[in-house]
Amino acid sequence: MGHAAIVGIGHSRFGRAPDKQLHELAWQAIRQALQDAGVTQRDIQFLVVGNAGGWSSELLPAVVVGEYAGLTPVGSMRVEAACASGSAALRAAATAVESGKADIALAVGVEKMTESTTMQIVEMIGRAGSFFWEFEHFGLTFPGYYAMYATAYMHEYRAKEEDLAAVAVKNHYYASLNPYAHFQKQITIEDVMKSRYVAWPLKLYDCSPQTDGAAAVVVASEEMAKKLTDTPIWIRAQGVATGTANLSKRDNFLSLEPAVLAAEQAYKQVGIERSQSYKYFDVAEVHDCFTIAEIIAYEDLGFVERGQGYALAREGETYKGGRIPVNLDGGLKAKGHPIAATGVSMAVELTKQLRQQNPESRQADIKKGLAVAHNIGGTGHYAYVTIFSLNKDVRFT
Ligand code: COA
Repeated sequence: MGHAAIVGIGHSRFGRAPDKQLHELAWQAIRQALQDAGVTQRDIQFLVVGNAGGWSSELLPAVVVGEYAGLTPVGSMRVEAACASGSAALRAAATAVESGKADIALAVGVEKMTESTTMQIVEMIGRAGSFFWEFEHFGLTFPGYYAMYATAYMHEYRAKEEDLAAVAVKNHYYASLNPYAHFQKQITIEDVMKSRYVAWPLKLYDCSPQTDGAAAVVVASEEMAKKLTDTPIWIRAQGVATGTANLSKRDNFLSLEPAVLAAEQAYKQVGIERSQSYKYFDVAEVHDCFTIAEIIAYEDLGFVERGQGYALAREGETYKGGRIPVNLDGGLKAKGHPIAATGVSMAVELTKQLRQQNPESRQADIKKGLAVAHNIGGTGHYAYVTIFSLNKDVRFT
């Protein structure tokens, strides 16, 4: 197997985009990614479109996006792994390159959520739990699912609603520094505490929003990457695992087991010790679809011991300069969460971080040249953990 590197990145503004169609959003990101890589449509040999869909009209988004972006007749496919569809798209593109089937591939994640109403979206995402057992019988929605994780966590470790709020405050702060973010305003703990309950203990400011947007990356083989750029960002390792849809089959609500498995797989490929993992990375992107999810992610990734994730948030240790900077782009919470765009957006952000292209206010110190993305689909239905590096061959022990 060869190596695959990100050589071009693109990102649309996240938010509500009533004036843009799905393919137009995708093109905004694709055009930037092609320009950044210094390639044209003719150089792309494989197109992967991450799109969960349902809320928007196009049923064959890969074809519509490919046509609008001038990429037909390049071979294409659409991938779906719920909120981790973007990481799945990256995996498919990277695998095509690593296997030698393509020299250059393009992965784009795109979503036009606001074509549907809030209630339609809440229903569609709710059906993405376990429709038969949980949605049809109990009407569980995603804020409801993560509220169960939050209540279990708060009960077990005596964490408070204010601890969850600390995650929202951090992520809104960084989103206010990110022109591509859905929300551009800073908030306080009091703002979070005063916001309306969506599913106790989660309030409006504990939730990621419904967002339109797209992100794209050009992925190249080692040989092509060296021709195209001096700073290829290597997709060094990826772990993937799948959980149960049915919550009654899970052992506890304090961790997302597939995320732990995916992290272990990825860490093993690089020789990273899970209990010390924060020491290896300069920066992380984690899946904060709800504030509790970011806290559990700290623990699932081994940044901190079990039951200590909320203290990491409370003590500000995941800001720039802290123990491990997390979501310096605003995260899903405040940058926004256009479902399938999210995983690709994480790859774009970590590429910028490793290239040191962000403004100083939200640029991590890059000393180790290693970054990690944690992207969850559903409530741990799918888990992808991806390690990006400046050094293609980096390996510990
Ligand atoms: N965080 C902060 N502000 C939010 C917000 C959020 N998550 N969602 C909406 N808002 C703001 C809007 O910008 C708007 O502000 P304005 O009045 O200043 O314009 C206001 O709150 C009302 O917006 P509205 O769109 O009417 O909210 P809503 O009640 O329709 O939607 C939720 C709120 C929480 C139901 C919706 O954001 C949601 O479903 N989030 C979860 C999405 C999800 O499950 N994703 C998958 C996760 S795995």
